[in-house]
Amino acid sequence: MISSLFRRSSLAGSHARLSVASNRGFRSDLYGTNNWNWTKKDDLAYLRAMEYFEPRPPTVKIAVTGSSGNIGYALLFRIASGEMFGKNQRVQIHIFDIPPMIEKVKGVAMELYDCAFPTCEGILVTDDIERAFADIDVALLVGSKPRGPGMERGDLLRDNGKIFQSQGQALNKCARKSVKVVVVGNPVNTNCLILANNAPDIPLSSFCAMTRLDHDRGLAQIAKKAQCGITDVEKFCIWGNHSPTMFPDLSNATIYGRPALEVLRDVNKDEDIDKWYRSEFIPAVQQRGAAIIQARGASSAASAANACLMCARDWEKGTNGGWTSMAVACNKEYGITPGLFFSYPVVCGNEGVKIVDDLPAFDSFAQEKINATEKELLSEKDAVASMLPN
Ligand code: NAI
Repeated sequence: MISSLFRRSSLAGSHARLSVASNRGFRSDLYGTNNWNWTKKDDLAYLRAMEYFEPRPPTVKIAVTGSSGNIGYALLFRIASGEMFGKNQRVQIHIFDIPPMIEKVKGVAMELYDCAFPTCEGILVTDDIERAFADIDVALLVGSKPRGPGMERGDLLRDNGKIFQSQGQALNKCARKSVKVVVVGNPVNTNCLILANNAPDIPLSSFCAMTRLDHDRGLAQIAKKAQCGITDVEKFCIWGNHSPTMFPDLSNATIYGRPALEVLRDVNKDEDIDKWYRSEFIPAVQQRGAAIIQARGASSAASAANACLMCARDWEKGTNGGWTSMAVACNKEYGITPGLFFSYPVVCGNEGVKIVDDLPAFDSFAQEKINATEKELLSEKDAVASMLPN
């Protein structure tokens, strides 16, 4: 079942307008009019005139899967309100979910519609993945099958692998070749590997698996311990898999531009900070998802949605030289087996996502952590080898 709701302009209309790349921000029906002398007659004409005088960037089309789920619900309204790409950036949202959830998703779309967000140009609700991915600029792949009772990790990998295999093929066929893809559904690194491998016409650099939530969780813990602001903490990162083997690494981190561990020692004079780092901080970040489930009775949703939003925003708008963490296609950086999607410290800018290079060699503690998370990713890759045709 497929339904669609559009506001202001239909997708078909937008497609026609978008086809003239250089005019994508203009309304063609305004050319040749006497808008310079125009006086306000009605609101629509006023809006059109404003678009003529103040052209806005081309509309961005964003597909979100798993839209009826907890993260989807926390994510969609923020995208529509302009929090992802700014208040001057119109968006069209393609909301995808599986057929049993489509009625629920229609309800979500009705609520989105009722918010009357000026930045939300159109909403498409569909259970057809090719329609969802048609001509999109950004894909946020949240939907995945949760782990059921008695389900082995291998079963979870294979079941979700099938979802990401078909989504990769659909992306390859229908999305813009410049699409940026953020995978959120778990097991996120390996889902992303399967997805990218099944979309051979889209560059590997267009895919990432989300480790931003782990990164932000780490930042918040450091700032609390150092009694400083979040933005005082820099060069923190997550290495490896989005799983309890991830390595939240403080060895390059700074606070107020000084080595973070040094500042932490100054602020917590009576505490063994190396011990805190190894036996409290790292496990706390690794196990934060489980701790939230235990406290809330449900998995992280608003914070995961926020991380997804920030990841896509930073990828598009850049990090101004600052570090963030993203699991990206590895090409032997820091000795990791090529072909894995591995979380690295990255900087986003005009040239896309760049892995931070030339960091000092890992000490034996860090190397052990890196080896463990790499080993886990390699075993996940082995389990889904039949879904990696390329
Ligand atoms: P949820 O259970 O509330 O929603 C799951 C969504 O996936 C639903 O919309 C459902 O219809 C959809 N879905 C189920 N089977 C599907 C299929 N075969 N194809 C496509 N979509 C399907 O889950 P929630 O809380 O929204 O989490 C979504 C995913 O995000 C989960 O895999 C979760 O583990 C993961 N996650 C990832 C985080 C990260 O940091 N990378 C953090 C938190 C969650």
